[in-house]
Parts: sequence; C-alpha cells; structure tokens
Amino acid sequence: MSAGVWTAPGRVNLIGEHTDYNDGLVMPFALPLAIEVSASPRTDGRLRLSSANAPGQSVELRIEDLAPGSGPGGWTDYPAGVVWALREAGHPVAGADLHFDSTLPTGAGLSSSAALEVVTGLALRDLHELDVNRTELALLCRRAENVYAGAPTGIMDQMASACCTEGHALLLDTRDLSGRQIPLDLAARGLALLVVDTRVTHAHSQGEYGERRAGCESAARLLGVPALRDLTPQDLPAALERLPTGLGPLVRHVVTENARVERSAERLLVGEPGELGPILTEGHASLRDDFRVSCPELDLVVESALAAGALGARMTGGGFGGSAIALVPGAQAGAVADAVVSAFGRASYRTPLVLEAVPSSGARRLS
Ligand code: GLA
Repeated sequence: MSAGVWTAPGRVNLIGEHTDYNDGLVMPFALPLAIEVSASPRTDGRLRLSSANAPGQSVELRIEDLAPGSGPGGWTDYPAGVVWALREAGHPVAGADLHFDSTLPTGAGLSSSAALEVVTGLALRDLHELDVNRTELALLCRRAENVYAGAPTGIMDQMASACCTEGHALLLDTRDLSGRQIPLDLAARGLALLVVDTRVTHAHSQGEYGERRAGCESAARLLGVPALRDLTPQDLPAALERLPTGLGPLVRHVVTENARVERSAERLLVGEPGELGPILTEGHASLRDDFRVSCPELDLVVESALAAGALGARMTGGGFGGSAIALVPGAQAGAVADAVVSAFGRASYRTPLVLEAVPSSGARRLS
C-alpha cells in the first residue's frame, strides 16, 4: 500500500482506574487530541523516525537490530518497540519512514505513549498489508510498552486509542477484551466534561505504579483467585480479614472501582450521565485514600471543581500527577475552569491547562 497519513488519539478514562491489570472493567473515551504520522514504506530493512517536536533529529535504525533494552529510552523506543513486537509476532515489516506530529501533550496522563504506539502499528499494518485486527494491534502495542520500553502498564490505553468511536465511551472488559460502545452525548444533557492537566509528573511514578500492581497480584495470590476481578463487593469483608493491612485497601479499591464502572455504564445506558457525578467523586476518594495514587495537585482540582459547582470530579489515568476530570453543567464550565485555575494560583502551583473533552474517533487512516 502507498504512503499516507494516520492518526491515533489520546484518551481520558471516565471511570475504572487501576483495574485493567486486575482483569477488571474500564470505560475510557478518545480525545480529539492525537498523534499523526506521515508514513511511507521501505524495503531495505531500515526504519527512519522523525518528529515535528524534535526538528532536525531524525533517527535511522536497522530493524533487525531492534531488541528490548537496546533503545535510548526516549520517544523513539515506542515506535521502534512496535516494529519489534510486530516482527516477533511473525508479521513482516520491511522498513518505513515515519514522521510524527502531535497535538497531544506528553506526560499529562492522556496516553501519548499509547497513541504513538497505535498510530505506528496501524500505519505499518496498512503499509505492509499485515493481517492484524485492532485488538491484536493493541496487544502488540502493549507488548512494545511493557517489554521494549519497560513500562508495566495494562491494556486500557492501547485499546482506547485503537477502538474508541466518536460520541461513545468504550466499556471494556480487560479479561476477555470484549467491548461495548456506550453513547456519551453530554452536550445533549446540558453537561460538559473538563480535563485539567495539572502539568506535574511526580518522580518515581513508574516505580509506584509497579508497586501497586505487584501488591494487587500478591493479594490475588493470597486470596487464591486468578485476579482481583474475581472478587465481588460481597466477598470484601472476608477478604479484608485474610489480608495483611497494607494490601487490604488496594483490594477494596479494585473491587469497589469495578462496581463503580458497572453503575456508571448503567446510568449512561438509561440516559442519565449527570448521575455519574457522585460516582466519579467516590472513585477519586478511593484512589486517594485506598489506592494512594493521587497527589496534592490532583486533589486540589477535585476540591476546587466541586466547590465551584462540578457534579463530580476525579483523577484520571495512572495518577501521581497528570490529569483530572470534572463533570459540569455546561453553563458553568467556564466558571469551574476559572475556579480551578485560581485555586492553583493561590497554592502557588503551575497554571493548569483546562480543556473540554468531547468523545472522539479512535485511530484511523486520514489520507
Ligand atoms: C496508566 C496505564 C493503564 C492503567 C492506568 C490506570 O494509564 O497505562 O494501563 O493501568 O494507568 O488505570
């Protein structure tokens, strides 16, 4: 297939945090912010990577030299990792020139790394006519992130970028990767969803993520279940009695969060998105107090948005910085955004970036 342009979006997760590596439920939607790639095929076994964000710094790699741990640790590890993962899975990639451009901020917890992986994977699939569906592509992209780039994430972000559709949130069961598109037309109900990028990334966030994940996995082992997904809210009291004190709150978060995803999907399916508000705020408290992945800046977004009239608010993504979301009556969106920015000013934090998020399309070819 001939050269062209592909795009893959970032995501916000409406609800279902730190559940994906526990075989649980998530409900992200795609942002209008995305990474684009201009891609053309090569047949000489070489991969050229360049970015509008790093002018004059193109990198050329020999595909057969690609191996986990061999990359420099920067952004090029993600597309290189996808080429490695595709080839490892038996899909022949003979080479490509890839030039990236992005409207998606990096480090904001909006899945720029997954967008970079998915746009690369989709372009290579089409250029080299590979037999890979979107779910398989998302799995290969996660492998690139886990094994090649070395970040121990779950599958949510890659599935969101690859599979979300305009006007919907994706209710995804991360155990079997079955998904259901849930209509999410907030404007029709007089609502809006604000995304607030705190512009902070806390040191050690990756290590802490890995620790939470390891904690969940050892709790599941101690309880004798394949994954925390297998526990219901009714199982919780007995489970908490059996666990050491450090692990109990992690389990309580995951179990209650899966239930919150189910409750949220029900509310959306009956056309009552405003009723998500208290569920989102409850989810934030659970992430802050039980899972302990929030930070003062994220807590301040939630508190100041609620005080200014938001129906609900919570951190979104892995935590330790990044972004929070607030569900607001549409007419109050500006006032809530101003209140959050003022609260950050009073706390002498960096000015946050606020945008309104409208559920947008997943990855696709543009031309
Ligand atoms: C990050 C990871 C996801 C998921 C979230 C937390 O975004 O990439 O896989 O675990 O954190 O829900």
